[in-house]
Amino acid sequence: MIQIAPSLLSCDFSRLEKEIQTVEKGGCDLLHLDVMDGHFVPNITFGPVIIKGIRKLTSLPLDVHLMIESPGKWIEQFIDAGADWISFHIEAEKNPGPIFKFIKDKGLKAGIALNPKTPLSEIEPWVDKVDFVLVMTVNPGFGGQGFMPGPLEKIKVLSKRGIKVEVDGGIKLNNISQVVKAGASIIVSGSGVFKTENPGATVKKLKSIVI
Ligand code: DX5
Ligand code: ZN
Repeated sequence: MIQIAPSLLSCDFSRLEKEIQTVEKGGCDLLHLDVMDGHFVPNITFGPVIIKGIRKLTSLPLDVHLMIESPGKWIEQFIDAGADWISFHIEAEKNPGPIFKFIKDKGLKAGIALNPKTPLSEIEPWVDKVDFVLVMTVNPGFGGQGFMPGPLEKIKVLSKRGIKVEVDGGIKLNNISQVVKAGASIIVSGSGVFKTENPGATVKKLKSIVI
């Protein structure tokens, strides 16, 4: 069973509550929230205050993807804001072990994210310490970029080992089957959902993909 996680980065923030309700009705499993700090990536989005507000609008699990430097400094604030899943990048933290432990001890799911060019060897010491691995199929920073097929190989290797894989970047109705076939079970889609005419119906279609 695959899980669909619409990324709010591509939604219309002036009607945030309605956008959330639409994908919720469509049957999405999680809400993917992209936190960017203008340092780790060349873009700034939102932080714990906004996530706290989103928490009040939905009972869906909040999947917080931190694209920030020094993630450990901020984890507690994101937990207090209502995150359920938290992932951060190996490229931003060379000693992630204590942070995973902190997240898991608080009862949340912890994930490690890696950029398209980062080899699996970088996360190898940590794969058995996390609940999931987030494989990026675009360079992090912006929604609406084109899907990069290179990381598919990493998804295959991880999923064959029984590791839960989330995939993020450029996924739409026309290419979701590739990532599902490779073994990903949590699928993030931003523009592929919110830039379509009926985001709720698109979620439904994404969920019904059979390979
Ligand atoms: C990119 C973010 C993604 C992004 C996905 O840095 O991590 O979650 O919102 O958007 P699409 O699906 O449009 O590539
Ligand atoms: Zn993301």
